[in-house]
Amino acid sequence: MKTSSKGLAGLIDLPVITDPRGDLTFVEGCNHVPFDIARVYFLYNVPVDAERGGHAHRELRQVIFALSGSFRVSVDNGQTREEYWLRDPRKGILVERMIWREMDAFSQGAVCMVLASHPYDEGDYIRDHSTFLKEVSGS
Ligand code: TYD
Repeated sequence: MKTSSKGLAGLIDLPVITDPRGDLTFVEGCNHVPFDIARVYFLYNVPVDAERGGHAHRELRQVIFALSGSFRVSVDNGQTREEYWLRDPRKGILVERMIWREMDAFSQGAVCMVLASHPYDEGDYIRDHSTFLKEVSGS
């Protein structure tokens, strides 16, 4: 697994197989990302002024990629906030549990792919930032 950490989010660099027909990138759970992949979802047709995210997860771990175009991911652990720009389909950011995330500044036609460690569970979300601050300071 090729993972490095600049700060709050891990940086994931996927392999690429390049030949004259184009580039091929692949991802294996528990190998290129540090969990078994239970769910994959996509964001697309995102208006350029839309804001996504605005929540944290108690258990869920995710890796976020910009398969096409670009967007900004802001992460916050309750004390520090950092911003990352995703624009290379091979490079993802690992957002661990109990990290507040916001995504915005989507370019026209951007496609965001998210690999997730668990199936969808609304009960795992913390959608209120003050609740997040309380829970994260107690954990
Ligand atoms: P949400 O996770 O808030 O979107 P984002 O963080 O990208 O802004 O989800 C938006 C809606 O979609 C919400 O009603 C929950 C639903 N949803 C599912 O039903 N299944 C899923 O796998 C996801 C990610 C969301």
